[in-house]
Amino acid sequence: MTGASSGLGKVFCRKLAAIGFNIVMVARRKERLEQLAEEIAEYHHIQTRVICADLSNEEETKKIVRDVNDLEVGLLVNNAGVLNTGNFLDNDLEDEIQLINTNCKSYIILTHGLANKMRERNKGALIFLSSLAAVSAIARWGNYAASKGYDLQFSEAIHAELKNYNIDVMSLCPGLTRTELIKMSKFNNLMMMEPEVVVDIALKKLGKTNLVVPGIMNKINFFMTRLNSRSMNTRLFSLVVKPTQELELKK
Ligand SMILES: NC(=O)c1ccc[n+]([C@@H]2O[C@H](COP(=O)([O-])OP(=O)(O)OC[C@H]3O[C@@H](n4cnc5c(N)ncnc54)[C@H](OP(=O)(O)O)[C@@H]3O)[C@@H](O)[C@H]2O)c1
Repeated sequence: MTGASSGLGKVFCRKLAAIGFNIVMVARRKERLEQLAEEIAEYHHIQTRVICADLSNEEETKKIVRDVNDLEVGLLVNNAGVLNTGNFLDNDLEDEIQLINTNCKSYIILTHGLANKMRERNKGALIFLSSLAAVSAIARWGNYAASKGYDLQFSEAIHAELKNYNIDVMSLCPGLTRTELIKMSKFNNLMMMEPEVVVDIALKKLGKTNLVVPGIMNKINFFMTRLNSRSMNTRLFSLVVKPTQELELKK
């Protein structure tokens, strides 16, 4: 489970522990991971392992695969992610490169390392955290939306490659969800989903549906993008995330 220290990752850990999964928890914030690991191990009588690693670093990510070599990993949740907002040219280039490393490169390194073993065992499951943002270009969220588009296409391809090996692959595309990633209060209300609801839907659909878009509003938006022109989608999605820009300016 990557990105286990907050948001959707934390909720995934709690819910998976409740149904009896032992969990390897990966993120950078060690204290948070250890606290959660202790809590769920004690409460649900499961085993946990904490791996403190920076997933934007290729070597650290490859080391995770070696660090779990003694385990039979049955489910990989590629969840860790970062969002950079603002005009691309005004942002720090290193931050943008790190976004790609975390949101995309870490997913392929871990998938290559762990799904190979699932294929040998003819058994396993993969969940990729993509996003509703994957289906359109979004001004001021450009690199993020593109990274999630990558996750969506890559996971759909892996699904096609692995479907004869008894490996379930889910491309999970939540819309706006109340986590640390989305700090903007203006998104409160209708559009925002709770992470618990998103994770419940994902776990219920695992093994049954490949592409999961949680929530009726998100489903409608997802469907509408197929009817609209690409430029119309870009305009609409960019409008929706505009409050993030206003917030940036107020900082
Ligand atoms: N929230 C939404 O509206 C939304 C919507 C659609 C999709 N998603 C996707 O859902 C996933 C989880 O996001 P969230 O909303 O739960 O955000 P979040 O609360 O900010 O959690 C992000 C997690 O990723 C970890 N992470 C970030 N950079 C890392 C790095 N370099 N190395 C290791 N771990 C790193 C963070 O841990 P540390 O900081 O401790 O390292 C944290 O545990 C992301 O892939 C995101 O794109 C979110």
